[in-house]
Amino acid sequence: MKSSKLIGFGAYSPKKIVTNDDLSKIMDTNDEWISTRTGVKSRHIAEENEQTSDLGHKAFEQALSRSKLQKEDIELLIVATATPDLLFPSTACIIQKKADLKNAVCFDVTAACSGFLYALSIANAYIKSGKYKNVAVIGAEKMSKLIDWTDRATAILFGDGAGCFILQASDEETGIIDDIIKSSGYEGDILTYDYISAEKKITMQGSEVFKHAVSKMSDISKEILEKNNMTLNDIKYLIPHQANSRIVEGVAKYMDAPMDKVIMKVDHFANTSSASIPLAFCEAYEEGNIKEGDTLLFTALGAGITWGALLIKV
Ligand code: UT7
Repeated sequence: MKSSKLIGFGAYSPKKIVTNDDLSKIMDTNDEWISTRTGVKSRHIAEENEQTSDLGHKAFEQALSRSKLQKEDIELLIVATATPDLLFPSTACIIQKKADLKNAVCFDVTAACSGFLYALSIANAYIKSGKYKNVAVIGAEKMSKLIDWTDRATAILFGDGAGCFILQASDEETGIIDDIIKSSGYEGDILTYDYISAEKKITMQGSEVFKHAVSKMSDISKEILEKNNMTLNDIKYLIPHQANSRIVEGVAKYMDAPMDKVIMKVDHFANTSSASIPLAFCEAYEEGNIKEGDTLLFTALGAGITWGALLIKV
């Protein structure tokens, strides 16, 4: 069976940066509250005319140039997003047109903050089955378009951005080692966005989301390590979904992982949902912290609820 080798990756963050102090001018909040409760100091926010597909397209172009593939080589494009440009066509089809990916089958995956792991898992299954050789996976979000800027409980949490991985079928022992994804719709009410009702609004039971995030991300991370006869010693870095620094620290604590083994970028990205893992990965790589041959563990939890873990050798 082929392995899914990571041959390209890219990221994009909108130019505009909104700090906690900026938010305190438009709502009853302050830098101290946001920093202590979430670890967020600032977030990138897309322009009005900058769509999720634009963010994803830019991340894709960077990943493609690193991969050395041609556009026509891409056979499958999966976009994980909770903030599609439109309900249809899919954001993947919109990016197909923008990037001119003539030979790609394109579709979106909706799993909120776990979306990138879900999309990687699907890509991995297709590659292992022999159906596709070159697959692009994008996590792209314009969370700012869902935000109610009068709701301080949720508005402070999110940011916009995109990341992309390009995977290729390979005979080498590298790339995705294993992935596990799970769902439990039974707790779906703890985090919702109803786009149909008049009151378009994120509803969130913050402390419930917090508890599920810490316990499920640490449990599934332990599960995937055990399943593959690995321990934390085999991992260079843990990259959890960047929802909140306290959640990330909680996951590290329950896994007995020292914080220098954990990539944390939430202070300047905030929660970018499905884009958070590839954004954190790309920045850690650019900083020289991730190198070829390193094994990484990704984990995420999102609305649904959905969660997952994935082991990858870079
Ligand atoms: O992908 C998943 C996305 N969601 C998350 O990651 C959220 C997970 N949950 C959390 O991180 C935390 O629950 C929050 C950071 C959202 C909230 O922290 P908390 O410690 O659970 O605070 P709380 O909701 O219990 O609120 C405490 C107080 C309240 O005031 P009172 O009732 O004690 O007077 C809130 O009204 O803080 C107040 N508050 C704020 N104050 C200043 C809530 N939001 C703000 C704010 N600025 N932005």
